[in-house]
Amino acid sequence: MAMLIPDELIEEIRINNDIVDVISEYVKLERKGQYMFGLCPFHKEKTPSFSVTPSRQMFRCFGCDKGGNVFHFIMNMENLDFIEAVRLLADRARIQLPEGESEEEKKVTFIKQEIMKINVETARFFHNQLNSTKGEKARNYLKERKIAENTIRKFGMGYSTEEWDSLYKFLLSKGFNEEAIKESGLIIPNKSGGYFDRFRGRVIFPIFDLRGNVIGFGGRIMTAAKTNSSGYQDPKYMNSPETLVYNKGKTLYALNYAKNSGEKSLIIVEGYMDVISLHQSGIINAVASLGTALTESQGRVLKKYAEEIIICYDADLAGQAATMRGLDLLSDIGCNVKVLSIPDGKDPDEFIKKNGQAAFGNLLSGALSLIEYKIKVLKSEIDLTTTEGKIKFLNKTADVLTKVDNRLEREMNIKKLAKDYDISEEAIYTEVMKRTKPKNIIKKNVIDIQNYKTNKGIINLNGNEESKLIHLERMLLVFLCMDNSVYRFIKEKINLDYFHEENRQIASIVLDKLDNNKGIVAAELLNVIGTEAANEYARIIQDECNFEDNKKAVLDILKKIELSKLEKRQKEILEMLSSKNVVIEGVVEKLKAELKMILQKKKGL
Ligand code: CTP
Ligand code: MN
Repeated sequence: MAMLIPDELIEEIRINNDIVDVISEYVKLERKGQYMFGLCPFHKEKTPSFSVTPSRQMFRCFGCDKGGNVFHFIMNMENLDFIEAVRLLADRARIQLPEGESEEEKKVTFIKQEIMKINVETARFFHNQLNSTKGEKARNYLKERKIAENTIRKFGMGYSTEEWDSLYKFLLSKGFNEEAIKESGLIIPNKSGGYFDRFRGRVIFPIFDLRGNVIGFGGRIMTAAKTNSSGYQDPKYMNSPETLVYNKGKTLYALNYAKNSGEKSLIIVEGYMDVISLHQSGIINAVASLGTALTESQGRVLKKYAEEIIICYDADLAGQAATMRGLDLLSDIGCNVKVLSIPDGKDPDEFIKKNGQAAFGNLLSGALSLIEYKIKVLKSEIDLTTTEGKIKFLNKTADVLTKVDNRLEREMNIKKLAKDYDISEEAIYTEVMKRTKPKNIIKKNVIDIQNYKTNKGIINLNGNEESKLIHLERMLLVFLCMDNSVYRFIKEKINLDYFHEENRQIASIVLDKLDNNKGIVAAELLNVIGTEAANEYARIIQDECNFEDNKKAVLDILKKIELSKLEKRQKEILEMLSSKNVVIEGVVEKLKAELKMILQKKKGL
């Protein structure tokens, strides 16, 4: 399927998607010499072992061993197959794919663009209505809630009248077709085959994406509760459904502003009004998850824009449960998380309006770390006056502390806890140690990295001759891509049959390019392989192919391949000779002669 797209085009797409730019959309990268480093998006970690090499257009994680070029990154990150990743990146670089785009896909692209236009027109329409005579009630409502004029403008707030289909008619008058309007989620079909507006009689909050495009809407009724004509209570908030352009699980309200706040932390709150009030009061690093449970995608976005995430949900039970879930989710993907609890059961909006920015600042500086918060919750749930309760508390606390990777952090917490709750440090420490398993796997990785770095030659795979051979050949192919000029020194010595069948497909691409003087780079070589193989190639490229003298290194690899092949054959012969099946006349002699030759050749190498 991948081959429907010409390889030149795939390479063009790769070249036009700078790996640093693409990865930066998911991971915060910092330059260190010729590499960029960040927290790996594919496994949990607190210190960066995820590296990107701009000059090679490759990424590689020393922790979880994932690696590859920009396609593999997207495949891993977005859970896509190769062709989908190619599509996504072609889109990103505005490169048109040939007949790859079916009629169906063209239509989807068209409708997406129409929805974006419809959203802009709709936001304007609602905003104008807020400022018109019809919007008086809504203006008063916002005034009552202490929302200033410039805040209304900044957040593009609006008003939808009580009329049944004024927006629908407006959009038709603007020339949008019914299907696109329907797909925007702004209208709902009625029983008689027509449509009515989703948002009626509500204050409107447009929802923006990171670039400030309107992707959806939320609308609030202007009373505490309202019973509609059918006797049902209207929900307080009404939101756009998921559409081709609005993905709730990936969106964070107000991040388009908060990402530019210059703060190292982001505050995550529940609602529209919380964010708006905070921004109005000068807390411009606040975003909202809009009442839904925080998703991993949202978590990754937050991680990218902030060193620290402060969860500031409502104090009610639902808010507390959401806080716990958010804490675990964010810390699992490697975020630094804190919790800010608002006193007296208020939400951030109410608190800041009553107490002002400075008071909120005080709350912020007292935000609890993940451990502090979890222990505080435990304490509130467990009766500490009984012995039973104390034991339970100690056990649960130890569970929490065991999850802290950092030893210093753990020890500090144990000390503080012992003091705060009058438990002996030893008792807590003993419980934690009981729960801590030795981390063999992590240690192994560290040693591996060091080996790679100090390795002057070729790593010695623990596997058998065959896997060693496959690996060596891959190194050879990588070398040829990294330095095309060495090909002429070895051209006579290799051809397609030279390679193990495992490597033959890739070898044919490399040799074809080189034979035709087309040139090939290592990242391009990876275009044709899947994510699993890419991990290995990335390791080879980043860790094993850094030599001063490429020609010498390549000749060295050839020698090792030769040796490896001889070893393999020698083993085979020895096995045959030792088995009793060799009965055919003369065969034993032949094998022995070959063995002798092998031994001689090995000496000569
Ligand atoms: N929400 C929703 N639908 C509802 C209730 C809530 O989509 N029926 C979402 C909204 O995004 C809302 C958030 O959940 O902003 C938080 O809900 P809540 O705390 O009830 O609302 P507030 O933001 O506090 O709104 P207000 O102060 O206007 O009551
Ligand atoms: Mn509120």
